[in-house]
Amino acid sequence: MKVSPSLLAANFADLSSDITMINSSEADYLHMDVMDGVFVPNISFGFPVIDAVGKISRKPLDVHLMIVEPQKWVNQLRDSGAEIMNVHLEACLHLDRTVYSIHQAGMKAGVTLNPATPVSLLQDIIGELDLVLLMSVNPGFGGQAFIYNTLKKVRELRELIEKSGSKAIIEIDGGVTETTGKLLAEAGADILVAGSFVFKSDDPLQRIKILKNL
Ligand code: DX5
Ligand code: ZN
Repeated sequence: MKVSPSLLAANFADLSSDITMINSSEADYLHMDVMDGVFVPNISFGFPVIDAVGKISRKPLDVHLMIVEPQKWVNQLRDSGAEIMNVHLEACLHLDRTVYSIHQAGMKAGVTLNPATPVSLLQDIIGELDLVLLMSVNPGFGGQAFIYNTLKKVRELRELIEKSGSKAIIEIDGGVTETTGKLLAEAGADILVAGSFVFKSDDPLQRIKILKNL
């Protein structure tokens, strides 16, 4: 299993310690949650933080934009060194154009679905995607309970990917623990995002290892 620890649950007063820890861990990515207070009812951090973290992170940045009009920020995110740009389907009026411009900028394109958005809405774009991020909580906050309907969505998405011959990988975000992670692995997930499970623990390295071994 690939693991993408979510920085949202880190200690913002001492980010460099947490990034040093992630650098030395088995994590595959560093997940960064950008919130604008419009698309979601919360505000997290923006480009100055992504730039600063990107300078010291040895893990590729997996950036999750919970913002309206994400297409405005493609070049800026590229300049921040992000490897994956995740945009919400619900925030994109011209999703095909946005995915095209993410690729033109040299990043991997991820499309994110809220819990109530059906996987079937991806059927005409799935062939263009590198990644689909399924939200297993309503976006905006860390530490929420896992929505079990996500397991059905993972299986549907796996089927859509296989039927279409898409190379997209499946990432899940929200309420990931050892228990829900195991179920997600069985359902066909490729990457697990984990905030609280990793950072609100006395042994984050061990928590990352647990998810890696699922
Ligand atoms: C929620 C964010 C998540 C969040 C997950 O809107 O997208 O990445 O940090 O936190 P946990 O793992 O605590 O549910
Ligand atoms: Zn996220």
